[in-house]
Amino acid sequence: MRELVWDKTLSVAVDEIDEDHRRLVELFNIFSRAVEENDPPEYREAVLDELIACTIWHFRHEERLMLKYDYPGFAGHKAEHDDLVESAAEFQKKYLQHEGKMDEADFDYLEQWLTGHILVVDMKLGEWLAGVM
Ligand SMILES: [Fe+2]
Repeated sequence: MRELVWDKTLSVAVDEIDEDHRRLVELFNIFSRAVEENDPPEYREAVLDELIACTIWHFRHEERLMLKYDYPGFAGHKAEHDDLVESAAEFQKKYLQHEGKMDEADFDYLEQWLTGHILVVDMKLGEWLAGVM
């Protein structure tokens, strides 16, 4: 089973953002386990839906913090969030079309979708926020 571990390498040094990221990692793992254990399709679809919905909510949370603290990188960061939401919708559509089949490449994609942004763009935001909050 594909499992992500939240550790210090994923920490952006802002507790409230780290808390969200931990929750997203947990949902990724719940989804991965549901696929591994071949849980009913409706359940797996619900978990994937929850992961994407929580991610969208979390993006709004980060955007609110950026606005509150007048983050200079707001536009670029928000544009990346918007792209990620779009690619999540495409992924979900494909998932439903393929009747919930997930291969290694699909997991690679989902893992990268979740952690790639945290490791680069959110790190920069965290560094900046930690200095002004
Ligand atoms: Fe972000």
